[in-house]
Amino acid sequence: MPGIDYSGKHVVVTGGATGVGAGLLEVLAEHGKPRVTVLDLREPAGPHDVFIETNLSNRDAIDAAVAQIDGPIAALFNNAGVADTSQRDIVLAVNLLAPIYLTDALLPQIEQGGAVATTASIAGMAWSQRLPQHLELLAQEGWDAKAKWLDGRDLGTQTYAFTKETMQVWTMRDAARLRGHGIRINSACPSPIDTPLVKDFFETMGDDAMNFSIEAAGRMVTGREVAMLLAYLGSPAATFVSGQNIDIDNGMRASMVTGMLSFGGAKA
Ligand SMILES: NC(=O)c1ccc[n+]([C@@H]2O[C@H](COP(=O)([O-])OP(=O)(O)OC[C@H]3O[C@@H](n4cnc5c(N)ncnc54)[C@H](O)[C@@H]3O)[C@@H](O)[C@H]2O)c1
Repeated sequence: MPGIDYSGKHVVVTGGATGVGAGLLEVLAEHGKPRVTVLDLREPAGPHDVFIETNLSNRDAIDAAVAQIDGPIAALFNNAGVADTSQRDIVLAVNLLAPIYLTDALLPQIEQGGAVATTASIAGMAWSQRLPQHLELLAQEGWDAKAKWLDGRDLGTQTYAFTKETMQVWTMRDAARLRGHGIRINSACPSPIDTPLVKDFFETMGDDAMNFSIEAAGRMVTGREVAMLLAYLGSPAATFVSGQNIDIDNGMRASMVTGMLSFGGAKA
């Protein structure tokens, strides 16, 4: 059976400098040491082969990065993300427009049997409440049309949560299209992670919501634990797994869906 083995492969990671991305570079090095190309604002300290300084909020910068990437690519990890402490346009660009645009731009270079794995979030768990909106957005072709659709629109929730909902709907919607290319697409949906970004979520989501999530899950998930799930999803070990948004929250969302846990506290 195929395992989590990246030997001889080439992978692309966005946001590899800190947090989950830094953990992913370590995990990949331990699982076959693939050739790793990182797109980030800052060069990672962790193991990588090629660093392309890229501001993912800028489409031209993404085009310039793509022009420097040689295929074939076994896995694309769309991991970079920012919180609502950044401006709305930046959050929408980095968390939503960039992963979709980069995936489309690299698609011709992703090999048959390859995979796209995105770091979404448990913050996107309410995607079904806005499914028609997400599908309408995703039907807009290209960066500019999506940006125009988003411009000034009431998103019905925090911008960050909306972007992570869209990532989950995109993961489900694009499974069919990518299946036609022999490529899988999935996401990891973590509860609060012990990374530099988590302090921003305390600021934007408030202590009550964050402490509830952390206490319900038992603790924060580590960047390395999320990286292990991403490494699985990007590898042939996950053959036949596609279109899935996998919660990595110690069962927190499952407990909420089944009424075993509510915002006021545990029922059982
Ligand atoms: N920390 C949490 O509690 C949490 C929870 C759920 C999901 N997530 C998601 O996990 C992913 C990784 O976040 P993290 O917690 O490791 O945070 P982090 O801040 O440690 O890492 C984010 C990475 O993205 C890079 N980045 C940010 N803006 C960029 C830009 N404009 N262009 C290029 N690179 C950019 C940063 O330099 C950094 O390397 C994000 O998508 C985030 O939304 C985080």
